[in-house]
Amino acid sequence: MTGNIIDGKEIARQLRGALRSQVQSLTAEHAVTPGLAVILVGSNAASQLYVRMKKQACAEVGITSFSHELPDDTTEDALLSLIYTLNNHPAVHGILVQLPLPPHIHTQRIVEAISPDKDVDGFHPHNMGLLATGTPLFRPCTPWGCLELLRVSGVEVAGRHAVVVGRSNIVGKPVALMLLAEHATVTLCHSRTTHLAQQISQADILVAAIGQPEKIPGAWIKPGAVVIDVGINRRADGTLCGDVCFAEALPRVAAITPVPGGVGPMTIAMLLKNTVLGAERCIA
Ligand code: GUN
Repeated sequence: MTGNIIDGKEIARQLRGALRSQVQSLTAEHAVTPGLAVILVGSNAASQLYVRMKKQACAEVGITSFSHELPDDTTEDALLSLIYTLNNHPAVHGILVQLPLPPHIHTQRIVEAISPDKDVDGFHPHNMGLLATGTPLFRPCTPWGCLELLRVSGVEVAGRHAVVVGRSNIVGKPVALMLLAEHATVTLCHSRTTHLAQQISQADILVAAIGQPEKIPGAWIKPGAVVIDVGINRRADGTLCGDVCFAEALPRVAAITPVPGGVGPMTIAMLLKNTVLGAERCIA
């Protein structure tokens, strides 16, 4: 068997097309143009690239982006005060603070300062709580992108055994909650999990979010499984790879996301979707 490659780039492109139409009708019928404030603190090269991609994607679908690029030595108070201003800005429907923040800033304090009504990252404890209780408002973008890839690819989730590897607040925990909400039986593995290979071999659906290059060999994967690889890692030779050894996994699986071109483009598409949702809530 050679598995299908799930084309996240194409699925994200189609989603952006649909969002563009939605933005056009919001503007035409309600005179509302969705607005996203993007805050970058410091000069982390990867963060700069992600922020540039987010702003580009906003422009493509007709969302106004408000860019705030702040120096490395920005104080926590200065960042908080910018967030309070944006919380009350009527043209801003979403606020995104690119992570990671410099070490002198308390990330959780910043996350909690963003109004839950504009928390398009879905990281605020209010939104995490709503997700946990099964009544989500803003869903975290990368996990939502994973679920969207499964949905568009026609993968049955209900009743299947999903194994998530990684327990971060940004990916592992929320993706486990979303799979649970779709009626999967979920196992959440992490760095202290014993017998990881055995756990992974039980997965009908495997979500890998560890952040270690090709940590999961193909031999660990159940034949016919669906693999969603969230990792974006650099090999020693500079090329990109996921958390799963793609070349080994491909012949065994029913379907797998590539890196790059799998989950990555979906994260940005879901951010745009949350921003449009934020704007729609203003007119409702
Ligand atoms: N850094 C890595 N992923 C993310 C994300 O989804 N949102 C934000 N704000 N920062 C990130």
